[in-house]
Amino acid sequence: MCGIIGYIGNEDAVPIIVEGLKKLEYRGYDSAGVAVLNDGRFDVIKKKGRLAALEVEIQNTAQNATPIHGHLGIGHTRWATHGEPSNENAHPHLGNQEKIAVVHNGIIENYHTLRARLQSKGIVFQSETDSEVIPQLAEYYYEAENNLFDTVIKVASRLEGSYALGFMCVDTPDTIIAIKKDNPLIIGVSEHGNFIASDIPAVLKHTNQVYYLNDNELAVLTKEGITFYDTDKERIHKEIETITWSMESAEKGGYEHFMLKEIMEQPMILKNTLAKTLSQPPVDITRFNRIIITACGSAYNAGVVARYVFEKLCRTPVEVELASEFRYKDAIIDEKSLVILVSQSGETADTIAAMREAKAAGASTLAIVNVVGSTIAKECDYCFFTAAGPEIAVATTKAFSAQLLVLYSLAIRFAAQLNKISPAEEKSLRAELEALPDKVNALFAHTEEIQKYAASCIGYKSIFFIGRNIDYAIALEGSLKLKEISYIHSEAYAGGELKHGTIALIEENTLVVAISTCKRLEAKIMSNVEQVASRGANILSIGARHATASAVIPLPETHELFTPSLSVVVLQLFSYYVAANKGLDIDKPRNLAKSVTVE
Ligand code: F6R
Repeated sequence: MCGIIGYIGNEDAVPIIVEGLKKLEYRGYDSAGVAVLNDGRFDVIKKKGRLAALEVEIQNTAQNATPIHGHLGIGHTRWATHGEPSNENAHPHLGNQEKIAVVHNGIIENYHTLRARLQSKGIVFQSETDSEVIPQLAEYYYEAENNLFDTVIKVASRLEGSYALGFMCVDTPDTIIAIKKDNPLIIGVSEHGNFIASDIPAVLKHTNQVYYLNDNELAVLTKEGITFYDTDKERIHKEIETITWSMESAEKGGYEHFMLKEIMEQPMILKNTLAKTLSQPPVDITRFNRIIITACGSAYNAGVVARYVFEKLCRTPVEVELASEFRYKDAIIDEKSLVILVSQSGETADTIAAMREAKAAGASTLAIVNVVGSTIAKECDYCFFTAAGPEIAVATTKAFSAQLLVLYSLAIRFAAQLNKISPAEEKSLRAELEALPDKVNALFAHTEEIQKYAASCIGYKSIFFIGRNIDYAIALEGSLKLKEISYIHSEAYAGGELKHGTIALIEENTLVVAISTCKRLEAKIMSNVEQVASRGANILSIGARHATASAVIPLPETHELFTPSLSVVVLQLFSYYVAANKGLDIDKPRNLAKSVTVE
C-alpha cells in the first residue's frame, strides 16, 4: 500500500524524503513523488514507476540549474487504487491554486460526491484519484478559514473512508500537519528535524524516537517540536516510544533478497517468539464456548493450521474464517466467543473490520500481531506479539512462522487450562516447541538440493500441492507462496479431494508437491501420489519418501501437530528459488502490497 514520509528541519528535505521512500518500497507501489516548499511555492516531482525513475527526474532538475530543495517536504509511494499508475495520479497532489499540498494513504469512499460538488464550483481536477479531492477541498475551505489547522479538521470531518494524511500550505512554511483514520502514521523526532511516516524504517536512519498517531489525532510539526491535538482542537499528551530494533535488522545483510534473509532468520525468530510467549497476557479460556480465528492470506493459512492444533489439544470446535468474509456475514458470536485475529502488520483493513465486528457483537478479541503500535494491537482485548522484527519482503515467511508458534503455544496453554492435557503432556509439548528452532536450522542443510530442484521447475504451467490433515493446511501456504512470487498457477488440495474433480487437470508435465508428515496418514497420501504419478505428474515429496517421487526432502522428527513449522520452510525455499531462477522481483511481486490497508 502507499507509503508516506514528510520532513521538516534543518537539512535539505529532498534526499531525506527519497531515502525514506526507499525504506517504504516493501509496501508495494507503482509511482512516487515528492513536494518541497521553498520560497513561497511548491516544487513537485512525480514519476510513474520505480523510485529510480523519480531520482533521475530529480537529478535532471539539478542539471537544468533548477534543483528542487527545501527544509520541509512530503513524499509518497503510490499503489494505484483509483486511476492507473501515472505521473498525474502520483502524489503529492495540490489544489488548483497550488496553496496546499497533500499526501494520502487510504481510500476516500465519498470522493465521487465531493469531487462533483467541487467541480460544480468550477474546480478543475488534474488526476483520476480519490485523493485529489483532499487538497481541492482543503483549498476551498482555506478561503474562509485562512488557517491550515482548522482547514485540516474541517476536511477530515467531510471525508468518509480511511486516511493517513500529510499537509503543507504555502502560507505556513514552518509547519506540516498530519492526521489519520484507519491507516498507520508515526511521528519521528530527531535532532535535526521531525518526521511523519507510514512506518518506522522510513525514519530509523535519523531517529529511534517515535510517537504512534491514533485515529482522529492531529500532529502539528515544526522543526522545533510537535504538538498533538484531537479533532475538538484540545491539546493531547502522547508518550514517546523508543524503537529497539536497528536499521541493520531491516537491511538485506548480504542476501540477494529480503525474502531469503527472512527465511534464514527463522530459527532466531522462533527462539525470540518462544521467549516472548512467556510474557503473554492471561486469558481465561473457560469463559468461552467458541473460538473463531479470522485473518487474511497467509495469516488465514496460519489459522487453518491452528484449527487442527486447537481441536486436537483442546477438544474445542474452532472455526476459521477469511476476515473479508467474516466482516459481512453477521457472525453468530456473543460474549462467550473468543475471536482470534492473526495479522503481521496489524493494519489489514479486513482484519481490522472483523475485529470491530467481533467487539460490537460482545465477543472478546485476541490478536496475534507483529507490529507494535498497530491498530489491531491497540484495539484488541488481548495482544500476543510475534517477535519477527520488521518483515520487508512482501511475501511473508518469518512472521508466518512466528504466528504458528504463538498459536501452538496458545493451544497448549488453553488445553492445560481445560484439563485436556496433563502437566507432563504440557511439558513434553513445550519441549517439542523449544526444539523447533534447531530443527529448522538443520533443514537448511537441504537448501542447495531445493535450489537445484526448483531450477528445474520454472517451466511448469501449473503446480499442485497436496496433503492430508495438517499437511493439507500447510499446503495452502505453500501454494500461496509459490503463486505470489513466481507467478506460476498453483492450487492446494486435500489429497482425498483430488479424485472429486481436480485429477482431471493432471497430465504429463504437471508438478505435484506432496507433503506427508502425518505417519498415520502416510499410506493414504501415498495412494494419492500414485494416482497422480500414473497420470504423468512429477512428484516432489516433502517428509515421507514415495517411490515415484523425483525428489524427496526429508524433515526432522517432531510432534505431528508441529510439522507445519518444518514443512513450511521447505515450501518457502522452493518458491523462493523457483522465482529467483525466473529472475523475478521477489521482494516486491507485481500487484501485491505488504500491508493491505484498503478493502
Ligand atoms: C502472503 C502475505 C499476505 C498476508 C495478508 C495478511 O505472503 O503476506 O497474504 O499474509 O495480506 O496480512 P497481515 O498479516 O499483515 O494481516
